[in-house]
Amino acid sequence: MTNVFAYQNGSLAVEQVSLERIAAEVGTPCYVYSTERLRQNYADFIGGFQGMNAAVYYAIKANPNLAVTRALVDCGAGVDITSVGEMERALRAGVSPTKILYSGVGKRRDEIEAALNAGIRQINVESLPELHLIEQVTAELGKRAPVTLRINPNVAARTYKQNSTGELGTKFGIDLAQLDGVMEIVAKLSHIDFKGFQVHIGSHVFDFEPFREAFQKLADLTRFWRTKGFAIDRLDLGGGITIPYDSQTLAPFSDYVAIVRETVGDLGCELAFEPGRRLVGDAGILLSRVTFDKQGLSKRFLILDAGMNDLIRPAMYGARHTILPVKENHAADAPLADVVGPVCETSDLFGEDYRLPGVGQGDLVAILQAGAYGSAMSSNYNGRALIPEVMVSGGQFAIVRRRITVAEQLGWEAFPPWFEDKKPVEAHSCRAATG
Ligand SMILES: Cc1ncc(COP(=O)(O)O)c(C=O)c1O
Repeated sequence: MTNVFAYQNGSLAVEQVSLERIAAEVGTPCYVYSTERLRQNYADFIGGFQGMNAAVYYAIKANPNLAVTRALVDCGAGVDITSVGEMERALRAGVSPTKILYSGVGKRRDEIEAALNAGIRQINVESLPELHLIEQVTAELGKRAPVTLRINPNVAARTYKQNSTGELGTKFGIDLAQLDGVMEIVAKLSHIDFKGFQVHIGSHVFDFEPFREAFQKLADLTRFWRTKGFAIDRLDLGGGITIPYDSQTLAPFSDYVAIVRETVGDLGCELAFEPGRRLVGDAGILLSRVTFDKQGLSKRFLILDAGMNDLIRPAMYGARHTILPVKENHAADAPLADVVGPVCETSDLFGEDYRLPGVGQGDLVAILQAGAYGSAMSSNYNGRALIPEVMVSGGQFAIVRRRITVAEQLGWEAFPPWFEDKKPVEAHSCRAATG
């Protein structure tokens, strides 16, 4: 895979565009995505399953940006959604409804109705009440609903606790011990078109063995329920494979493919995958400028203009991203610094003890591996703007989401009528107010 984030003429570039140029023209902080890397990641994933009946449904939650989604859809990806909002995005990005899967534990009646009316490929059902609601809505619409049942296989994904979704006691999927009862009901519901099973054990999974355990359980279930007369022709294996963050090393993707082949490869089922992070995680960086280089009594802090509201993973899980100086400098003896943001929380910390040679006040840094669950999970906390997103392709770049300024955000709110007599102060649109 070609390295799309490399130094060129002493400055870090994305494909052929220097980050200094993007910072000058767009401002910081901002996200920058590589189209080339998105395409490479898709080709790499689907290429692993050549000769198998397999399809990739991009988990749009990882990065719902329309241009990012479109790049993957143009490669041939379907989309895995968790809400009707995400369905609207997926459709806008050009995916056919017949290539949309719908996941999530709390689908509302109106969302189920909208998904059925759009004619999506499959609803992944996570509970008995959801199954009953789908039956009811489908009957009212005079349709049939293609569904898989999401199983909770009780497998520890060995990832961050917040990212583990396949263990007993988590809210996800149908507990194995309750499946008999659910299958009995499935057999009786006349508007449910049962297709097979789904499993998703978690996100940021770097050890592939939990996948083996979960997929084996799925294979055993498939064989068992086929003997009971159920036609099972789809297995949805979820997403969850991580990318290497910072200095992590990962087993090769071919190991994951081998696990899939060994566990479910001989069942004659169509296999669906729902990768998010794996497709977009290393295709994006967060570009930021050092506001202050602060020497404290015991520590040095590089205070960035990006904060935990822009990229929450380090604050949320203690995740550590690679951070690089934009101006090339490989000096080994640079002083260590904690890299922090401006938000008024101690947890607004990108990480401790980074060595960033040549980086001081006013300099640019790139936070790598920021394409997944970065912008997607950002907020306007601390009165901050939502930052721009930029896409690069070869030597060109474009703003694919502009800055959502604080002045605009003020327009989202209103005073209640009983405050009518108090005139609001006009918003000023200085840089400090717009973030
Ligand atoms: C049902 C489902 N599928 C796919 C994904 C994508 O996970 P990842 O981005 O780790 O591949 C998630 C995220 O947790 C999910 O909940």
